Amino acid sequence: MRTVITGGTVVNATGRALADVVVDDELITAVTTPGLVTGADRTIDATGKYVIPGGIDAHTHMEMPFGGTFSNDTFATGTTAAAWGGTTTIIDFAVQARGTSLLSTLDTWHAKADGNCAVDYGFHMIISEVDDHSLKEMQPCIDAGVNSFKMFMAYPGVFYSTDGDILRAMQQARATGSMVMMHAENGIAIDQLVAQALAEGRTAPVEHSITRPPELEGEATSRAIALAKVTGSPLYIVHLSARHALEAVAAARDTGQNVFAETCPQYLYLSIENMAEPDFNGAKYVASPPLRSKDHQADLWRGLRTNDLSVVSTDHCPFCFKDQKELGRDDFSKIPNGIPGVEHRMDLLHQGVVTGEITLERWVEVCSTTPARMFGLHGRKGVIAPGADADVVVYDPAAKQTISALTHHMNVDYSAYEGLEITGAVETVLSRGAVVIAAGEFHGKPGHGRFLKRDLSQYLV
Ligand code: URP
Ligand code: ZN
Ligand code: ZN
Ligand code: ZN
Repeated sequence: MRTVITGGTVVNATGRALADVVVDDELITAVTTPGLVTGADRTIDATGKYVIPGGIDAHTHMEMPFGGTFSNDTFATGTTAAAWGGTTTIIDFAVQARGTSLLSTLDTWHAKADGNCAVDYGFHMIISEVDDHSLKEMQPCIDAGVNSFKMFMAYPGVFYSTDGDILRAMQQARATGSMVMMHAENGIAIDQLVAQALAEGRTAPVEHSITRPPELEGEATSRAIALAKVTGSPLYIVHLSARHALEAVAAARDTGQNVFAETCPQYLYLSIENMAEPDFNGAKYVASPPLRSKDHQADLWRGLRTNDLSVVSTDHCPFCFKDQKELGRDDFSKIPNGIPGVEHRMDLLHQGVVTGEITLERWVEVCSTTPARMFGLHGRKGVIAPGADADVVVYDPAAKQTISALTHHMNVDYSAYEGLEITGAVETVLSRGAVVIAAGEFHGKPGHGRFLKRDLSQYLV
C-alpha cells in the first residue's frame, strides 16, 4: 500500500521544505521533490498545509486511580481524543500502589491498554515505594521497554518519596542508564499550609493554588537537581509551572548538568484567576502544580525558546466536573487533581507560532521531536524522514475552530479552554500509515495502537 502526501510544507525540527512524503505500508520511505512520485494507491493533497510528525504526548494519565476515583478517559477514549488532536503517541504512567511490585504494576497497566489504544503508546513507571525490591526491579522494567521512573516530592502518605528514597532511586537510574522524572513540589510544607487553610475555613478551589506557592516548587526543583548532581543521574522535571523552578533548571543546565524540563499548555494559557471563578468552577482547573499568576507565562514561553524547557506535554488527567471534581465541594484538598488536555496540545502550541512566541520548527520540536529523543523513540517517531514510522499529521494553519466540551472527544464533561478560538486545525492523521482522522471523521480503531518498547541505550557512553 503506497500513500503519497503531496504539495504540503514538510516541517521538521530542523527546517521546512515543500516536499512530497511517500509512505509504504507503515513507514515513510521518501521525502522528495513535489510531483516526482506517481502511481500511488492513495494520494492526500496537502497543498497549503503543513505536513508534520505526529505529536508525542509524553505525560498522560488514562484510567488513573486518584483520591478514590479514576481519571475518566480509558486508553480507548483517551488515545482516540489524542488522534483527533494530531497526537499519535502517548506515554502514560503505570502507578505502583504501595505494597505491590513494579513488574505486577506493569502487567496491570498492560491489561488496561493492550488491544484498546487507537495510537501507539508507551509507559513510564511511578515508583511509590523505594525499597531493595523495587530498586532491583528497575532493570527488568527497562528490559521491558520502560526506562523512565517518576517520583514525587509531593503527596505525603500517597506517592511521596523522602530525599533518601530519591537518592537511592537516582543511584539506580545512574547505574542502569535510565531517567528519573520528578514531581517537584515540597509536599511536607504544602500539607501544613493546606491544614492551616482548612482550619481557618478557607475551603474554595483557589486555596489549592494559594497553599502550593511557587517558592515550594522552586525549592523542590533545586533539591531534586542537587540530588541528581550528587548521584550523576539525569533528571527530567515534569509539569514545570513556575518561574522559580525554571530559574533552577536554567542555572543547572548552564553548568552542563543533564537536567531537562517539560511544561504543559495549562501553564502557558491559564492562571490562578481561573481557579477563582465562582460557583465552584475553579475546581475544573485544580491540578498540581497549580495554575500560577499570569506573569509566569512569559517566562515559560521564554524557557521554551531557550530550551530550558525542552518538551510540552499535557499531564492529561480528566475528572468530570459534575460527579468527580464535586468530591471536593466543601474541601479543596479533596478535589481530584488533574486537567484534561490530550486533544488540544498541538492546537494550543500552534497559537504560540501564530503569535510569534516560537517558530514552526520549535513547535514540532517541543511537541514531537524532543519527546521522541528524550524517551528512546528517536528515528521511529518525531521526524518526517525515510525509515520513520508513518505517523504524519496534515495541519491546516489557516483553519479556525473554537474549543468546546460540546465538540471535543475526551471523555470528560468540561473543557478547561471552553470558548477559546484557535487558528489552525488538524486535517488528516496517519498512524503507522493507517488513516485515523480524515475529513472530520475518525477512521481508526482501538487495538491499532502498539506498545512501544523504548530504549535509551544508544545514548550510553
Ligand atoms: O494534578 C495532576 N498533575 N494530576 C496528575 C498526577 C500528577 O501529579 O502528574
Ligand atoms: Zn505529577
Ligand atoms: Zn541557559
Ligand atoms: Zn501527571
